[in-house]
Amino acid sequence: MEHFSAIQSLCRIGLENGDGRFRKQVERLRDRLTKAGDERDAATLSALLANVTSDVSLAPSNVEVSRSLVVGDELTGNVHPPVDRETSVPLAEILLAPSAGQPSPIFDETLQLAMGALVSEWQNAEALKALGVEPSRSCLFYGPPGTGKTLAALTLAAKLNLPVVNARIDGLVSSFLGTTARNIANLFDFANRYRCVLILDEFDALAKMRDDPHELGELKRVVNTLLQNLDARANKGLTIAITNHEGLLDPAVWRRFQNHVRIGQPDLPTRLEMLRTFLGSLELGDDVIKTLSYVAGPRSGSDLKTFADALRRSLALSGSEATPRAITLATKTLLPRLGIEDSDMGPARLFLVNEPKFIGEVLHADLGIRQDSLAQMFDCSQSKISRWSGEWASDEKTAVRTADA
Ligand SMILES: Nc1ncnc2c1ncn2[C@@H]1O[C@H](COP(=O)(O)OP(=O)(O)O)[C@@H](O)[C@H]1O
Ligand SMILES: [Mg+2]
Repeated sequence: MEHFSAIQSLCRIGLENGDGRFRKQVERLRDRLTKAGDERDAATLSALLANVTSDVSLAPSNVEVSRSLVVGDELTGNVHPPVDRETSVPLAEILLAPSAGQPSPIFDETLQLAMGALVSEWQNAEALKALGVEPSRSCLFYGPPGTGKTLAALTLAAKLNLPVVNARIDGLVSSFLGTTARNIANLFDFANRYRCVLILDEFDALAKMRDDPHELGELKRVVNTLLQNLDARANKGLTIAITNHEGLLDPAVWRRFQNHVRIGQPDLPTRLEMLRTFLGSLELGDDVIKTLSYVAGPRSGSDLKTFADALRRSLALSGSEATPRAITLATKTLLPRLGIEDSDMGPARLFLVNEPKFIGEVLHADLGIRQDSLAQMFDCSQSKISRWSGEWASDEKTAVRTADA
């Protein structure tokens, strides 16, 4: 490409600012170059994208988290996590660049504000202390699986420029009596020694011990150890616990966390934004993405990511261009893999078995989808789409009248 070296410098400078939107444009440029067969320049941009990620996430932040909020030695690549004494399995994973290779989480405005408030509180701990207010040091993320809880915890740590000691509690629960409590104590000792964010993922795994009567004594010991360790850590560092089943948590454990953030299923605008991001490289028209987000229905970010990846793979394998029609056909073959129940009579089923009704519904869902976009997706004339839309509306009216009668 002409003037590529100048473009390369522009990209490097822009990427270093860490603005996600800029990064996205560079990724698009890279994808376009690949499409145009300019493999060499595309590879240069890929290398830039990869380098700048690690540079940014390892570079000291302008607003360093105060050394009084998070104490301890620096974690380096030479430090090894503690292991379970019986099995030698590490009790945690150390992530020096916690957001490397991770996408940015996409949340609705309320959640974004909640996350922003946490970061701001932790970044401004000194100012808070000067005002006589102790900053909080712990947070519990809870909500259904696949909604981005782990991702949010890793991103928070990266925003604060802190490494992560990431413990999956299910891996810590040992079948050897007495070992689980010891593992927990060792894990906290380790985390307290270093400047880090301690992430306790799959936190509800402990509660499962309640199902086994032989484990009850052990569970009591474990919960006590956990409470003592959480209290002892309260003035040492940041702790984020994550659970899919908040109902299973011991209330005393729940109360130990100063913030409780529910990360629920994404709403329709958030799902739309997710699909825009996950399918970004395909450069689909927005009406196609809106239609897909309607088809996919209320699903988690993780499900949408799986769907988007499968769609991209399917197009790549069939060698088709990402035309609206090709997307519709690929989606039809992929939907059953999203785990649609026979009883699910929602948009996904209509999309598969009753196109006229689906089209009527999606046009009346206030997404602002144009009829000509649907005509392309469903390979029919716009007048047919218009007729189906009219028939849907009059069927609805009849249904309402029958219900009223
Ligand atoms: N809110 C979200 N924003 C962006 N990606 C998401 C979101 N939620 C889930 N994902 C995708 O799903 C994957 C799994 O999410 P994860 O954080 O492990 O969910 P959880 O911990 O809530 O079960 C993520 O790596 C990401 O690709
Ligand atoms: Mg998780």
